[in-house]
Amino acid sequence: MTTRPRILVARAVFPETIARLEQHFEVEHNQADAAWSRQELLARLKDKAGALTTGTERIDAELLAACSELKICANMAVGFNNFDVPAMTARGVLATNTPDVLTETTADFGFALLMATARRIAESEHYLRAGRWTKWSYDMFAGAEVHGSTLGILGMGRIGQGIARRGAHGFGMNVIYHNRSRLTPELEAACKARYVTKDELLAKADHLVLVLPYSAESHHAIGAAELARMKPTATLVNIARGGIVDDAALAQALKEKRIAAAGLDVFEGEPKVHPDLLTVPNVVLTPHIASATVPTRRAMADLAAENLIGYLVGGQPRTPLNP
Ligand code: DGY
Repeated sequence: MTTRPRILVARAVFPETIARLEQHFEVEHNQADAAWSRQELLARLKDKAGALTTGTERIDAELLAACSELKICANMAVGFNNFDVPAMTARGVLATNTPDVLTETTADFGFALLMATARRIAESEHYLRAGRWTKWSYDMFAGAEVHGSTLGILGMGRIGQGIARRGAHGFGMNVIYHNRSRLTPELEAACKARYVTKDELLAKADHLVLVLPYSAESHHAIGAAELARMKPTATLVNIARGGIVDDAALAQALKEKRIAAAGLDVFEGEPKVHPDLLTVPNVVLTPHIASATVPTRRAMADLAAENLIGYLVGGQPRTPLNP
C-alpha cells in the first residue's frame, strides 16, 4: 500500500475543504482556529509535503531549512507577502495563491468602505446607538460627496480595476490611478481611468483607495509626507495590507483633521490596531474582511485545495507563483 502525502492545514477552514483534502492526503489541521506559534508551526510542518496557509503563516528561509519534505505552500489569499518566494524557489518549494476568485467581492468591499468613510456611516451609527440623537440639524454628519468626485487608486491590478469600474460606471467618478506599470489603452478605457504620477494622485484624489501589494518597496507608501500632500477634505481607504500606511502618522493626520477621514480593513501588526486609531472618530475600522463573503471564502478554500491536490497528486497546480 502506498502512503499518502501528509499535509498541514494551518488554520481552520470549511469542513468540506478538509473532507476533500482527506480524500487524497493524511491531513493534520488546526481545529482551534488560533494561529499556531512559530515553533509549533515549524514542528508540525517538519514531516509534511504540503501546507494550506493563510496570510498569518510566515514561510521563510529559516522555516524551509527545517522542513525538508515540504513541496508546496498553498496560500488561501491573493496576497502572499507572508511568503519569501525567492527562498521557496531556491528550496524547490512551490508557492500558490488565490487570485481572481475574490476580485469582485474585494472590490465591492473597497467601495463599501469608501462609502461608509465618506458618508460617516459608522460614526453616525455609534452616535445614534449611544442615544445622542435628539434633533435634526443642517450639518449633522455632513460628509464628502462620492458621485462625481475624483477617485484615486494606488495599485491598479485586478481589484483596483474593479474599484475603478464601480466608481466610473456606477457613480460617475473621475478616476485617476498610479501603478508601477501603466494599463493598456483598452483596460484604461474599460475602467475610464487616467494614469497620473503619485504626486498628482495624492494632490487630486477626493477619495484615495490603496490596492497595491505589500513589499519592502511599498512599506509606508503612505506616510506623513504623503498625507500632507492630500486635500484636507480627502478620505483614504486601505484594503491592501497593513504596513503600506504608516498607521501612527495616519492617526495623527486624522486627529489634526489634515485629511477628513479614513477607512481601514488592514493594519500594521494586525490583529493589533494602533491605539490612536481606536480613539479618533473619523475612521472606519474593519477586521481584514474585504474578501469575506461565504461564496468567495469557499472559492478561495477550493482553489487552495485544488492547488495542493493538483500539484501533489497530479503534478499540475492551478495558480502557481513560482512555477
Ligand atoms: C487576500 O486574499 O490577500 C486577503 O487579504 C485575505 O487574506
